[in-house]
Amino acid sequence: MPLVSMRQLLDEAAKGGYGVGAFNVNDMEQIQAIMGAAKETNSPVVIQASRGARAFAQDRYLFHLILAAAELNPEIPIAMHQDHGNSFETCKSAIELGYTSVMMDGSLKEDGKTPATFEENVAVTKKVVDFAHERGVTVEGEIGVLGGVEDGHGAGGTGLEHITDPDQAVEFAELTGVDALAIAIGTSHGAYKFTKKPDGSVLKMDVLIAIHKRLPNTHLVMHGSSSVPKDLQDVINEYGGKLKETWGVPVEEIQLGIRNGVRKINVDTDNRLAMTGAIRKVLWTQPEKFDPRDYMKPAREAMQKVVALRMKQFGQAGHAGDYKPIAITEIAKGYKDGSLVTKPLVAAR
Ligand code: G3H
Ligand code: 13P
Ligand code: ZN
Repeated sequence: MPLVSMRQLLDEAAKGGYGVGAFNVNDMEQIQAIMGAAKETNSPVVIQASRGARAFAQDRYLFHLILAAAELNPEIPIAMHQDHGNSFETCKSAIELGYTSVMMDGSLKEDGKTPATFEENVAVTKKVVDFAHERGVTVEGEIGVLGGVEDGHGAGGTGLEHITDPDQAVEFAELTGVDALAIAIGTSHGAYKFTKKPDGSVLKMDVLIAIHKRLPNTHLVMHGSSSVPKDLQDVINEYGGKLKETWGVPVEEIQLGIRNGVRKINVDTDNRLAMTGAIRKVLWTQPEKFDPRDYMKPAREAMQKVVALRMKQFGQAGHAGDYKPIAITEIAKGYKDGSLVTKPLVAAR
């Protein structure tokens, strides 16, 4: 199957009332783990690459690895997504490479650290929307700022400093015409999200529900949505790792989000933990091993297990064959003639 538009994938998810996991990749084994899980559970999927991933793997390696995934799994709809684009140029380069979806994270300035003003965010996001939609490519925007720093990207802090204002979310969606909207509800990137199991004082599901009430037809995106399970932490620490006690986003909170308009759920850290634990275990228990396949195979299997579980928990499992992919050129026509509505439906308060 050719790569599909993320907009089509999320529209289908909205019809079916489920969420779609968006998993980060940097190398072949991670792509294979995701595809193994998608095949096993018959799931549509978003494969996403950060700027760091594109630099690490090099654009053409990563792009062709994802194309190979599509070629080898014709029954699985795959959207290829730029995660946290920091500028118009980053998004343009992804689109020119062949990504079917981009995130313009205008919540931060181009340095990827400093919170941007609302006006700056609207201007750069709208510019990306105009360029992308002309080419049938989906755009995710972000309003509010997440916590944490990953690979130099992020404003830092706990995630409570810049919670999304529902009124601003409405205005932002109207002014930009984004296909999907990432919101800040207290989560942060990386392993250290919460110091205890999060309650409503730190994980603001009430804000998410308020936004969904105002924007009932807008696909919401939850970033920083790894659950950081204790069993994955334990494997790392058992085999010489030094993770401090930490909590992630409970799956039941994500499921509450999915019942309230969340269609894309970003997960990276859980997969990093699973792979690292598996590699540590081999190297710790079998120090004589030196063939990378001896630890990369268990690492890939451990990641596949986590991804397959999330696909079932998010509800995308079983939905790969529900629809026929629409060509990106047709999607472009839909944006042009207005049949693919980009102006959000705003509910009266
Ligand atoms: O945005 C966060 C993702 O986990 C990607 O992280 O920038 O370290 O590749 P990265
Ligand atoms: P985690 O660090 O919680 O996996 O979040 C990943 C993410 O939001 C990627 O954009
Ligand atoms: Zn993110």
